[in-house]
Amino acid sequence: MQAILLVGGFGTRLRPLTLTTPKQMLPVLDRPMIEHVVSGLGRHGVDRVVLALGYQDDAFRAAYPDGRCAGVELCCVVESEPLDTAGAIRFAYEASDMGAVPSTFLVANGDVITGLDVSELLRLHRAAGAEATIHLIEVEDPSRYGVVVTNAGGRVTAFVEKPSPPAPSRWINAGTYLMEPSVIGRIASGRRVSVEREVFPAMAADGTLWALRHNTYWVDAGTPETYLRAQLDLLDGRRGPAAAGVSGEAVVDPGAVVERSVVMAGAVVAAGSVVRGSAVHSGAVIEPGAQVLDSVVGSEATVGRGARVADGTLIGEGSAVAPGAALSGARVPEAA
Ligand code: GDD
Ligand code: MG
Repeated sequence: MQAILLVGGFGTRLRPLTLTTPKQMLPVLDRPMIEHVVSGLGRHGVDRVVLALGYQDDAFRAAYPDGRCAGVELCCVVESEPLDTAGAIRFAYEASDMGAVPSTFLVANGDVITGLDVSELLRLHRAAGAEATIHLIEVEDPSRYGVVVTNAGGRVTAFVEKPSPPAPSRWINAGTYLMEPSVIGRIASGRRVSVEREVFPAMAADGTLWALRHNTYWVDAGTPETYLRAQLDLLDGRRGPAAAGVSGEAVVDPGAVVERSVVMAGAVVAAGSVVRGSAVHSGAVIEPGAQVLDSVVGSEATVGRGARVADGTLIGEGSAVAPGAALSGARVPEAA
């Protein structure tokens, strides 16, 4: 099966990390986010992935110069301006010539890491004779997602993107879809079209959209909190056997405390510092006596002596936190 992977967004919620690296190329433990996503698709029968690129497309091509990622063939297409999710699907479908042999294809949001069994989605898709079928997951707070209402058989009766509360359901669009080629004909060309705000609501009204309720490992790693969680889940063993967080190529002083954190290759954690519930990217330096709590320190960044960064602070690549500073939920540099 072929898949279109949507990876052209600006990653605004993860700025300033995404000012220098596109969201799906940010590291999740030991590999860029996209490799976790593509290897999941590859395990479930996807053998060619069309990357729907836009923002910082060169970073993807530079990382996979031989056109393969996690054992899967890559094809890169680039929008000249962002066409939004559905516009990107149509553009990718046409630019990669997927229509040459029309068949069911998969679409996924590039920041969704999931254990979804695609064959289950396909089973419902075929049995229902659906035009498109969406994977649904149940969450506590659906307000930041696409909320989906179905009838007992799984036919979608309503799709509401980011509803104001109260949401009509706790089942949300998990960002993986199977589509028939006819969906492409529903997407206007040459302008921005949202699959969530335009195409899915129209299909729900026509009764051609189905959804599979399937709770499995799932995270949309596109916010500071979930980007960290995607990594801590690997350490906690929520996705396979528990992984080690500290790279063998990091330098952690025996007098430092590192708890439930990722410390990547080339990072230095000095004596008397504390790193807890955080990610310290490659080449970053945590100076003596500093504390990094529930935060992300970008590559080559420095947290100065005695400073305290906490509560979802994001330090951009190469940035410095002054010695003794105290930051909570901050962005360094402040978001552009
Ligand atoms: N090529 C391209 N062009 N890609 C885009 C564009 C575009 O104009 N806009 C967004 N994308 C990509 C992003 O890079 C991301 O991988 C994916 O589309 C989804 O965009 P997000 O910005 O991450 O959306 P979201 O997380 O707010 O909401 C989406 O995901 C939720 C589940 O994770 C929606 O699909 C929700 O309905 C869904 O519940
Ligand atoms: Mg997202």
